Amino acid sequence: MAERKITLEELSQHVKDTDTWMAINGTVWDITGFAEIHPGGPDIIQKYSGGDASEPYNSVHSLKLAEKNFDASQRIGTLNAYFVANKLPAENTRNPRLENDLPEIDEIINLTDLEAAAEKASINDHGFTKADNADFYRKIFLRPRVARAVQDINTKTKILDDVYDIPIFNAPASLMMLAHPDAEMALAKGLVASGSTIIIPTLSSFSTEEIIEALPADHPFYFQLYVSPNKAALEKMVDSLCKLRPKAIMVTADLPVFSKREANERYEKRIAKQKRASEPGATTAGRRSGQARSAGVSIDPNLCWSNIKWLKESTGIPIFVKGIQCAGDALQAWKIGCKGIYISNHGGRAADTAQPTILTLAEIRFYYPFILEEMEVFIDGGVRRGTDILKAICLGAKGVCLGRPFFYALMYGEEGVRYTIQLLKDELETAMQLCGITSLSEAHIGILNTRALYRDVESPQSLSSKL
Ligand code: HEM
Ligand SMILES: Cc1cc2nc3c(=O)[nH]c(=O)nc-3n(C[C@H](O)[C@H](O)[C@H](O)COP(=O)(O)O)c2cc1C
Repeated sequence: MAERKITLEELSQHVKDTDTWMAINGTVWDITGFAEIHPGGPDIIQKYSGGDASEPYNSVHSLKLAEKNFDASQRIGTLNAYFVANKLPAENTRNPRLENDLPEIDEIINLTDLEAAAEKASINDHGFTKADNADFYRKIFLRPRVARAVQDINTKTKILDDVYDIPIFNAPASLMMLAHPDAEMALAKGLVASGSTIIIPTLSSFSTEEIIEALPADHPFYFQLYVSPNKAALEKMVDSLCKLRPKAIMVTADLPVFSKREANERYEKRIAKQKRASEPGATTAGRRSGQARSAGVSIDPNLCWSNIKWLKESTGIPIFVKGIQCAGDALQAWKIGCKGIYISNHGGRAADTAQPTILTLAEIRFYYPFILEEMEVFIDGGVRRGTDILKAICLGAKGVCLGRPFFYALMYGEEGVRYTIQLLKDELETAMQLCGITSLSEAHIGILNTRALYRDVESPQSLSSKL
């Protein structure tokens, strides 16, 4: 059957809450009710209801996301206008925050340089925990062993029966298209080319299926899940995960509500101010920040251990809990039969002044060392150096994840991802050789001086009173 042609005029008549249409890249969709469940908040959807939303849509979402998310029955027809043809994504997806001149990639010789390039593009943010995550790695000293044959070296790690060439993974981050139009596709390809794999975020720019298609056949991958407060949406997600079979589902548990994101608020207020200056009648008063807007529709504030147990039982897929911040919760994850823990404080974006993640790893090792033997352990937060990676592995982690650095690396697309991993791999290999080991299986606490770190581990008295 030939597709119905819809004029802009007809489209503009469907703006009621009970009858809403929207054009995205030439297709007209019935999006009635979608504004309230859009993870990016209702404002943007309401603004473009009854019109062509290609431009804002393409700046953060892949072409196919709409097709994957809306039902075929919601497809009304095609837009009978030339407008969309002029708005192909490449031209729209350039994030205005990144329009500064980036340095040449080979001018970047470590992850501090990479962060400085991102500072220029003002996509960095700050907080006490964010800084402490990185600083606490420097509280641990290395105790190198000498006179050992270290010429031949490998950095392999085995997780859930899969062997990766490096213990380096991405920490899942939403909407990577803000950094580059190829977003998670480039991230996935860069990670795989480097001998690792991707942790696909729930709130990705490309659909999960598109990202999986970018992986070699049968390549293992992980999925980070934000548990939706909407029962139907959660069940749909669980069904699709059962079909897609990630190696593990990493349930993010450290963000029942969104924290105050001052960098975002400042950015939004600056944009609002510019808008008021250029459009004197425009009002932005009373609008909540973008992050706050989207929190409630994507993340269930009532997520409990019983829900995590239900996920484990209903999917049969190994579960990791992401956002473990104390030994007691690591124990809880172990008790309900999770296969792994992912130590994280959301890079300091959840509870600011939360303890640094490497200290949490030390706390778990001190109180429940068996957990590090029986569960797979990932850690993120402030990992910026090969020596940081070595320290985390010596303390018992199997994999380290990096959040912001991959966001910044993506400013250079897939090449940036491969380049960043190579920098870290070179640093890790050198650190291992200088400490006298040739394989990560030889990494052990004996090559560390952790006295300063352990001085900060929570005391047994207060630990037990909180369990
Ligand atoms: C097709 C189904 C859609 C899905 C699954 C979806 C999903 C999402 C997600 C996950 C976010 C990120 C939320 C966050 O990180 O806080 C987001 C943000 C956004 N979405 Fe959508 N979206 C869809 C449709 C649309 C449409 C039709 C538009 C066009 C108006 C749109 C425009 C945006 C914009 C501009 C943002 C950024 C909002 C902000 O940070 O202020 N999206 N969307
Ligand atoms: C911009 C940004 C977006 C993020 N989005 C998510 C997300 O969607 N899901 C999630 O579990 N964690 C998310 N995180 C947290 C990261 O997975 C990770 O815990 C943190 O970034 C690690 O710290 P690092 O940035 O210091 O490496 C996000 C972090 C950042 C900086």
